[in-house]
Amino acid sequence: MCGIVGYVGTKKAYPILINGLTALEYRGYDSAGIASMENGKICVMKDKGRVSNLNNIPGLNDLTGTIGIAHTRWATHGMPSKENSHPHMDNSETFAVVHNGIIENYNELKAFLSDNGYHFLSQTDTEVIPNLIHYYFSKETSDNKFLAAVQKATADLKGSFAIEVLSNLYPDKMIVVRKDSPLVIGKGSEGFHIASDIPALLEYTRDFYLLNDYEYTVIENSSIKFYDKNLVEHEKEIKNIEWAASAAEKNGFDDYMLKEIHEQPTAIRETIGSRLKLGEACNFSDINISKEYLSTINKIFIVACGTAMHAGLTGKKFIENLCNIPVEVDVASEFRYRNPIVNEKSLCIFISQSGETADTIAALKLCREKGAKTLAVSNVIGSSITREADYTIYTHAGPEIAVASTKAYTSQVVLLGILAVYFAEILESVDTETINNIKKDILELPSKIETSLKTADQMKELAKKIYTEKDMFFIGRGVDYNVALEGSLKLKEISYIHSEAYASGELKHGPIALIEKGITVISILTDEALVEKSISNIQEVITRGAKTIIITNLDLSNAGFENVVKVEETNPLLSPILSVIPLQLLSYYISKEKGLDVDKPRNLAKSVTVE
Ligand code: AGP
Ligand code: GLU
Repeated sequence: MCGIVGYVGTKKAYPILINGLTALEYRGYDSAGIASMENGKICVMKDKGRVSNLNNIPGLNDLTGTIGIAHTRWATHGMPSKENSHPHMDNSETFAVVHNGIIENYNELKAFLSDNGYHFLSQTDTEVIPNLIHYYFSKETSDNKFLAAVQKATADLKGSFAIEVLSNLYPDKMIVVRKDSPLVIGKGSEGFHIASDIPALLEYTRDFYLLNDYEYTVIENSSIKFYDKNLVEHEKEIKNIEWAASAAEKNGFDDYMLKEIHEQPTAIRETIGSRLKLGEACNFSDINISKEYLSTINKIFIVACGTAMHAGLTGKKFIENLCNIPVEVDVASEFRYRNPIVNEKSLCIFISQSGETADTIAALKLCREKGAKTLAVSNVIGSSITREADYTIYTHAGPEIAVASTKAYTSQVVLLGILAVYFAEILESVDTETINNIKKDILELPSKIETSLKTADQMKELAKKIYTEKDMFFIGRGVDYNVALEGSLKLKEISYIHSEAYASGELKHGPIALIEKGITVISILTDEALVEKSISNIQEVITRGAKTIIITNLDLSNAGFENVVKVEETNPLLSPILSVIPLQLLSYYISKEKGLDVDKPRNLAKSVTVE
């Protein structure tokens, strides 16, 4: 949640900060603010609302400072308001802080600071940070007073944070530090750029420092110094990131979501990359899992949130079908608190597009403590989860900016499929013909996705018919049920229409009571083995007056259904990759019909870095 930007260099800071905030606005968009160092004095400008509102603040264009911090907020504590917007300052207005995350013990710290004469102007948890820094600074006697005060203050914080700190007393310096919230530093030709994610900085640099928890970083003019938790200085390696800057632009599409939907053929080609070729064993030389180790595994856990969890549900089918190892899938926020039976014979897979999802990272740490090996599936190179996991595999789908995940989902499903084939080859759990057939099917996916994309006009017309509805149902069996879940989530996220996803067979056990004349039921029907039963379920809702939309790869021309949307045939396990696309498009066009902000839906943020 929230986006942080910072700059220390030779150029005017404020345009760079606003530019960065605009790129990060998908992470949080209820308030925005900047602080620029103006002739040795911190100047704060902030307000509730979108980043563009900052341009209306008088005096913004007069800022000339070359060092500054900025924030776009996704409120956790305190309503969106000017007072609650970041940056926050201490009572003496000596320190300014922007913060991403939650300070869980802020009440306790607030009471402590109040007892020591501090008062608070906002309802945020964040405001304790600059005041704590001031408290420790006023008591500090060491030479490195500013850094020592930041270290002492952050040592008191429980929860998660990524912060940038400025001080009037050190006008050339910025201190940044993180714990469980993302923060990267780019080294550009005209200074250091700080941001919550890499795509926001691609126009300035490809060279990044990826900060670890409690790695205190002091940037001053052209120097950057890194210190550990005990303030012992160390060297840090710079990483070169290959993403193209244009990958984070709209490239002529109205919205990022539409662009990302249409990028799926390319994204999947990149995901397959050199991992899978006909006639060769799958190539996962980057993780190199041995037969010896894999043979000891008696259970695989797949843990993730939201769309990533939906991808995991299909991952389970792949692994169970091809590797004969039982797989349990869970949402991270449940898994981490239910004392799961995980041990050294478990392999735990964590899926996270951003690699920054707080619950997923916490679940990973839990599994590691329980002695299991952990494997991260992520899209963001160097993201937090990849630094915690024993093994990491990347989806290589390119930056995903829209809050509603599309290409990340399909690339996750494909990568899990390839991983299952790799495991099956190691374990020799299925015959070569099965392996070769599925490989062929995976390699054909990019061109078959093109066919799914051709349903766009049909989905646009359907959207026009149903966008005013209040409730909808999505149903399916097997992998089609997984797609129903994902289709329903997409619709909720960006169209604000209530919808439910059910396994078709479950309808009779309750939800069918809600089916009445005129309600739309969207069915996904791709598995020939289940077709008869699924068709009976569709008939049951039609009998009760429902309108239906059917996404299918089967020939239903003689079944007399209205609104049949055709996708191509493939291996039943891979069909979610093709059948989800019309549903992504339907949600997109419904959202457009309603005149909503597709890329930045209300209450949501791209990266959920708080619990
Ligand atoms: C997807 O459309 C959602 N915005 C959301 O469910 C997302 O998939 C979830 O928050 C997990 O994010 P991650 O993959 O970055 O961990
Ligand atoms: N907890 C802080 C607040 O509510 C920061 C939230 C964020 O990450 O945007 O202001």
